Amino acid sequence: MCGIIGIVSKKQVVDRLIDGLECLEYRGYDSAGIATVNNSEIVYSKSAGKLDSLKNKLKQKPINGYIGIGHTRWATHGEPIEFNAHPHVTKSVAVVHNGIIENFAEFKDALLKKGINFESQTDTEVIAKLVEEKISKEKCRPLEAVRLTIKKLRGSFALCFIFRGHENFMVATRRGSPLALGFGDGENFVSSDALSLSIFSKKVCYLEEDDFAKITSDEVIIYDSDGNSVSRDMHTLYTDPVNLSKGKYKHFMEKEIFEQPEVISQVLGTYLNASKEMLSLPPLPQSTEIKRIILIGCGTAFYSCLVAKYWFESLSSIPTQAELASEFRYRSPVVSKDDLLIFVSQSGETADTIGALRFAKEYTKNILAIVNVEQSSIARESNWVFSTKAGPEIGVASTKAFTCQLLVLKILNIKLASDLYKITAKQRSNLLKGLLELPRLFSEILSQNENIKKLCKKFISSNSVLYLGRDILYPIALEGALKLKEISYLHAEGYASGELKHGPIALIDKSMPLVALNPWSKVFEKTLSNLEEVKARRGRIILLTDKKGRELSKDLTKSIFQLPSCSDFLTPILYSLPLQLIAYYTALDKGTDVDQPRNLAKSVTVE
Ligand code: G6P
Repeated sequence: MCGIIGIVSKKQVVDRLIDGLECLEYRGYDSAGIATVNNSEIVYSKSAGKLDSLKNKLKQKPINGYIGIGHTRWATHGEPIEFNAHPHVTKSVAVVHNGIIENFAEFKDALLKKGINFESQTDTEVIAKLVEEKISKEKCRPLEAVRLTIKKLRGSFALCFIFRGHENFMVATRRGSPLALGFGDGENFVSSDALSLSIFSKKVCYLEEDDFAKITSDEVIIYDSDGNSVSRDMHTLYTDPVNLSKGKYKHFMEKEIFEQPEVISQVLGTYLNASKEMLSLPPLPQSTEIKRIILIGCGTAFYSCLVAKYWFESLSSIPTQAELASEFRYRSPVVSKDDLLIFVSQSGETADTIGALRFAKEYTKNILAIVNVEQSSIARESNWVFSTKAGPEIGVASTKAFTCQLLVLKILNIKLASDLYKITAKQRSNLLKGLLELPRLFSEILSQNENIKKLCKKFISSNSVLYLGRDILYPIALEGALKLKEISYLHAEGYASGELKHGPIALIDKSMPLVALNPWSKVFEKTLSNLEEVKARRGRIILLTDKKGRELSKDLTKSIFQLPSCSDFLTPILYSLPLQLIAYYTALDKGTDVDQPRNLAKSVTVE
């Protein structure tokens, strides 16, 4: 993971390096550092912990420069201590790195044998030392030194280098990890993502695999891996920088939860046309040619895939499977040219998902990306892109991006079912009308947030929480448990209600809170029986249900949160919301760092 930034300018860059790192902190926050070239010498400052710690250090001991690189780290090799923080600096070069160098150990051994010492436990320091050798011993020019070094490396990297004696020249390159370039007036920029560049520049391009960029304040020259000068497509960014602030909210996660009614309205407005009975979608694969759907994602995105599996099989009658990206590519799966592979990812940069996508591309051209970042690697490498349009999501725990993934998957589900004549025009119209109810239903739930806050008090003294759901709410139970784990550090597990008796029921006693999702539905009574089994063992049930479910469960528990009644197909989207609030308020009670929970990063660009 990690976020990297670089600026070459005719103005001082340090403050803007820090602004850029602020936008990149979602990629990791174990340490941060910057380096510049000032009076021809490389100067740097780095600090363990979050960016604030680096800022304080810079206040006490400022550094200057018209060129600089910066880094925010998610530790892979070596503890999150200052020695391991980037940039890694030698006499002639400073480098920041996002990714993993898989063969670093062999180079490190060879360099150690030559008497070259290492300060850190990182894989990145090897790159700095190898480039240094090329420059000082082999007398290579900086660009050539980088190019020759990179050729030897295995793994994934986005790298940005500055050099002693060069105050208007930096080099950036990538393989596997993303890297965007931003174009300004008398200054140019490099960053791990375009979002952070949006505060400096609206014109960006993306480096392709093994591209090199030679960047000065007035010019950017891109070379491909063979050394040919190439041009890459330019894009204009439309991100409103205001979107990147918390507004009236305490945390980005809170803001992102509460803006869902509006965000969902916008998504519906984009994909449902004026008459509200027709879909207006981006180009998508031919429905009639699809024999099977395979949905692939990681973390929260995987749970959207699981929900969609229920939807696609029941409404579109297309055999569907949901796969964890990190497992899929390594288990020799059978993929055929008639399969539609759908890659779901908020960031569009998750290394496991990209790996699975590249594997799948060898077997089929039917590759559809469902992403929130439209210019991400996953989007660029797919044949079709269906954007979730949730807007930038900064909180590490995914909220609005998840509900928008579900929404887009449901819309796709309705389209496929309609194209394949599995539903009538009337049924389609009813489904679309149902979706249009969502913003109102979300607002209704959000207006009862105080009731959820009260329910969360039940968790504070427990060590573990179980989440139960059946049928299409089973994946939502999994997502609810993940959300709680991620930000409150409370152990939580999601189970299919019917599975409780096959093992987890052994955990139930009077200290165990259990969140049950059980609105009135065809499986209501089955789940109610499972919950009676919990009650008989004195488990503490917190029930999320609707009006009818509440009436039928009044002897079960007093801890009930009532959601508005809705069609069955909407429940996964609707029941996600109280679970997001439960996780958020529990984390507040526990005093954890909600937006930047320990050990996590939002965009996981390593396997
Ligand atoms: C990380 C994040 C999760 C996220 C997962 C997939 O693990 O911490 O919150 O769900 O990556 O991310 P993606 O960007 O592919 O949806």
